[in-house]
Amino acid sequence: MGTPDGATVDRYLASALLEDDPVLEAAIAASDEAGLPPIAVSPLQGRLLGLLARAMGARRVLEVGTLGGYSAICLARGLAQGGRLVTAELEPHHAEVARVNLARAGLADRVEVRVGPANETLRALAREGAEPFDLVFIDADKSGYPEYFELALGLVRVGSVIVADNVVRDGEVADADSADEAVRGVRRFLERVGGEPRVEATAIQTVGVKGYDGFAVVVVVA
Ligand SMILES: C[S@@+](CC[C@H](N)C(=O)[O-])C[C@H]1O[C@@H](n2cnc3c(N)ncnc32)[C@H](O)[C@@H]1O
Repeated sequence: MGTPDGATVDRYLASALLEDDPVLEAAIAASDEAGLPPIAVSPLQGRLLGLLARAMGARRVLEVGTLGGYSAICLARGLAQGGRLVTAELEPHHAEVARVNLARAGLADRVEVRVGPANETLRALAREGAEPFDLVFIDADKSGYPEYFELALGLVRVGSVIVADNVVRDGEVADADSADEAVRGVRRFLERVGGEPRVEATAIQTVGVKGYDGFAVVVVVA
């Protein structure tokens, strides 16, 4: 047998480590049915988000990019008792699908889906004097990542964690001449993070059912 590909290994890892999850399966089925693009995080990645929230004892989680609420369900499941997730989504139709999925998951009481451009939602949270978020997951339009990071910095505390998805993009992130706006946005984001003295960060490349990509993990240290 040759070396199995990343998707095959992902399926094996999921079968070994994750239990059947009718709630998440229903969220994906409802999202497909509603015509949403199949770009939610993978089951293993979703589990990682939930574990991060749980390991941190997160009470306040912010997500940028809701889609049908798959990762929101994973994050909300990891919240500490009494915790809350705010998730920002541009498309009203996506937000509506997410609300139904979150309600079916029994999480509607602890998740707020805010509709509108995420930069406006994050600014509104700052104006409202929102309590600092413990964990932020950035997963919306890639050209917005630098701004989402900038705004997220104003909504966190020392010790908070910011995770950003899709920062490798089939390896194209290493191409300084890429004309792809998403790649350029991710590069500006990574360079902004790397130059920010308030944070320490890393990025991990991943393969699996979502192809070759990766995520950045940023910890606020000052
Ligand atoms: C990759 S999907 C999010 C997937 C979701 N986090 C999950 O794993 O289940 C990106 C989402 O960001 C939304 N989006 C795109 N531009 C946005 C913006 N400017 N503000 C807020 N959301 C935006 C898209 O409509 C889409 O639903």
